[in-house]
Amino acid sequence: MFDRFTKGCCNSHLKAFVILVVFSLHFVQALNQKSPSALTVVESPESTVEDEGEETEIVEVVQPTHLWQTLKPGQGVPTGSHVRLNLQTGQREVRLGEEQLKYLGDKHRQVEDHQQAHSFSTQELKNALKKFKEGVELETEEEKKAKESLRSQFRPLEELKKDMAQLDLLVETDSQVMARLVAQFNSSSATLEERLKALLDLEYLVHQVDNAQNLVSMGGLRLVVESLNSTDHRMQENTAFVLGSALSSNPVVQVEAVDSGALQKLLTLLATPRPMAVKKKVLFAVAALLRHFPFAQNHFLKLGGLQVLGELFRSAGGGALRVRVVTMLYDMIMEKELISQTGLDIIPDTAHQERLRQYSQISLLPALAEQGWCSLVPELLDSPEHDWREKALRALLAMLRPCQGQFRQDRGLGATLGALREQYQELVVIETSLGEEGGYFGEILDLLDTLVLRLK
Ligand SMILES: *[C@@H]1O[C@H](CO)[C@@H](O)[C@H](O)[C@H]1NC(C)=O
Ligand SMILES: *[C@@H]1O[C@H](CO)[C@@H](O)[C@H](O)[C@H]1NC(C)=O
Repeated sequence: MFDRFTKGCCNSHLKAFVILVVFSLHFVQALNQKSPSALTVVESPESTVEDEGEETEIVEVVQPTHLWQTLKPGQGVPTGSHVRLNLQTGQREVRLGEEQLKYLGDKHRQVEDHQQAHSFSTQELKNALKKFKEGVELETEEEKKAKESLRSQFRPLEELKKDMAQLDLLVETDSQVMARLVAQFNSSSATLEERLKALLDLEYLVHQVDNAQNLVSMGGLRLVVESLNSTDHRMQENTAFVLGSALSSNPVVQVEAVDSGALQKLLTLLATPRPMAVKKKVLFAVAALLRHFPFAQNHFLKLGGLQVLGELFRSAGGGALRVRVVTMLYDMIMEKELISQTGLDIIPDTAHQERLRQYSQISLLPALAEQGWCSLVPELLDSPEHDWREKALRALLAMLRPCQGQFRQDRGLGATLGALREQYQELVVIETSLGEEGGYFGEILDLLDTLVLRLK
């Protein structure tokens, strides 16, 4: 995932410092404050540091600076230091903790007011030493020496800042990433390509329920819905894709999407000529919007959704869009059926009563018959795909109530069912001879038998 979001931003320096863990260690005994040297021997070490599964005694405490320095086995660090694992070298590295760095910054400003600074890094060094030596004055020679050696290690502050910015980037949270992507998508200076890319990155994130809800609260969902209006086909496709993924099993997003007029826009996209790729994603978004959301389903019917889907089915030729449309309708029928059935088993509570009431207002089956679906769905049986035929059969069974009369009179359907039965009886014989009782073809044959029986 990091790969995805740090791509294009990383120089080789950052790659050399891919950091798995940045953490503070709080286990080392207070360092000996009397010693003027940078390294201090701890006289009776009880704390230990883990090194590749082994416990190593701490024999030295390293005095951290601004710079990352490598920790050798047996070296410990003062409380509050930052320790990280360098994945390239497999070694631990230490530097001053955030608090201490901040302290340095403040002290630096005060000192500068009083005396001429030799250089920024020298002042920092002085303060670092003061902080850790707590008032112990250094011998001039030693001070000079220490300064010189540390100064040679100092990198320019700008470089340091860059490092820290990159560190921040690595630990960017999902919501930070999303805020960045939404800003990029909303930016008037971003190119179309950049905006399309931002959408795809968002799509990846909104599969997580929390992220999708975050998108709602940061106003990103409304932006996405508005962009369904774009005249660019790829923009239509990508916005519908983000929307569909954010909507999936996410009631908060579903409510917001209906509220921002997404359904009307999606249906408009479906009803007008578009490339197949756009229609597929739009249909995906519509299905996700309606699932387990009777309010939206009712709205869908009122907006003429079934008619739009009918046009889509007719214009889709033999394409996969037809089976998707039928599957979506089947899911809606079954959803309502299941709700009414579970009502028989459970102790009714008010939420369930309300759900029942909402579903009862959706007259999906009569509307399907009215819109000609009793003759449309049988067309799917002509497909050579077993899977498509299976879905068509299930849908036909689910639509029996309003369509039974029409099915019985449909000679074409009768002939198709007869031919398919023969075909699947043969396939079941083969299936059984291969040792597979109750296999997939057996399942399809059962559906055929049931349907034929119900149409007698
Ligand atoms: C998008 O940009 C407009 C204008 O710059 C701004 O008013 C709006 O708040 C932005 N929306 C989001 C969700 O960032
Ligand atoms: C987007 O399209 C809808 C119709 O679907 C229209 O009412 C609305 O004004 C359009 N918005 C923009 C910003 O073009």
